[in-house]
Amino acid sequence: MDAIRVRGGKALSGSVRISGAKNAALPILCATLLSDGASRLRNVPDLRDINTTAALLRFLGRNVTVNAPEVHVAAGSDVRPEAPYELVKQMRASILVLGPLVARFGRAKVSLPGGCAIGARPVDQHLKGLEAMGCTIRIERGYVIAEGPGGGGRLKGAEVYFDIPTVTGTENLMMAAALAKGRTTMLNCAREPEIEELGRILNKMGAEVDGAGTDVMHIRGADRGDLAPFDHAIIPDRIEAGTYMVAAAAVEGSDVRIDGAELSDLEALVSKMRSAGCEIESEGHGLRVRRKGPLKPVNITTAPHPGFPTDMQAQFLVLMALAKGESVITETIFENRFMHVPELQRMGASVALRGNTAVVQGVDKLYGASVMATDLRASASLVIAGMLCDAGDETEVRRVYHIDRGYERIEEKLRGIGADIERVKGAEA
Ligand code: EPU
Repeated sequence: MDAIRVRGGKALSGSVRISGAKNAALPILCATLLSDGASRLRNVPDLRDINTTAALLRFLGRNVTVNAPEVHVAAGSDVRPEAPYELVKQMRASILVLGPLVARFGRAKVSLPGGCAIGARPVDQHLKGLEAMGCTIRIERGYVIAEGPGGGGRLKGAEVYFDIPTVTGTENLMMAAALAKGRTTMLNCAREPEIEELGRILNKMGAEVDGAGTDVMHIRGADRGDLAPFDHAIIPDRIEAGTYMVAAAAVEGSDVRIDGAELSDLEALVSKMRSAGCEIESEGHGLRVRRKGPLKPVNITTAPHPGFPTDMQAQFLVLMALAKGESVITETIFENRFMHVPELQRMGASVALRGNTAVVQGVDKLYGASVMATDLRASASLVIAGMLCDAGDETEVRRVYHIDRGYERIEEKLRGIGADIERVKGAEA
């Protein structure tokens, strides 16, 4: 297994280009199931999760060519509307094939994803919405088995209220509604930019989606058996952008341009970073991040978009680990998303965990150590922490396969802006 070695003491400068958004590409790849034509996606990041989705689509009978940053998907000969546990367990976003499969083929059998390192992550809201659209749903031996009305018929438009705004739940039902008969109204939808992006795709494909990116969405399904194919370039990844912004701000004296970062998608993070003493300015299609003075403590509470993103909590906590004073970080989205804290404590961070809050007392510096990545964003926070140690003080971040799920060539990109970082192949063998 590979590891990432990082040594501190280097200010960052220059520019880093942000890749396409993983969490926009995944539902869009699944949306290709709604069409029999050949679709082309551009600006797709070169990530493990993209390859897992491609493998899943191939298993379902599609022809998929991944040649990052392009992916081509076309219908194959046989469709097998079944997503096996072996693939779903590698990436829980695989549940995103459920809505399109049952809408397009009248039935689907998809493994329940189960829990993961950050929480239980149920899918009850996805299932409740499909039932409202006329699906019969059974859970058998760990699988969701969904059938359209009358034993495999076309879904019907419905009114769906989400008890909790769910990103992939909203996306699954958007794709189901795009081929359902009549109009679907969805209330209390998640509002992430990736959902707006899926709305753009479904409109290109011939459905009528109104309100994607707001909490109320209306969707009129296309009156035909399948949707049109599309050609589309994916939006930049706001969480990758946010991660490089925090890395730049964490190392004093850095001055980094984040190419492709959109201020409008990152407002909560930008506001909190500015309160912490970071300088962030829009520059064309990018942001410039600097920090000259000391970091100030700032409290954050994660919330659905446009609130502070849970996917930036671990990285922001590292910033606060060096702030002058106490900050309180509250995680409201996932119940187990502080797995990075014990690793950061081993590097000298002073953090007390109380339920869903982390109380951070800033320290003067962190110390290099061997640490273990537990999930994607936690791994990124450990890499940033390694950059905050003294010159020559080395941190080894293990289990980097988590990072490879969601950060394209992170060590190359960080090295490109001056970090002392390398990937060590087979370090954990
Ligand atoms: N929830 C339910 N029932 C449901 C669905 C969700 O109770 O049926 C709960 C979840 O347990 C959680 C909350 O609702 O407490 C929000 O979860 P959501 O469904 O929005 O999360 P998700 O769709 O599974 C996506 C991203 C995550 C990101 C979250 C929150 C994708 C592929 N994944 O997950 O991204 O953290 O939204 O913003 O879009 C990552 O990229 O590292 C990542 C984990």
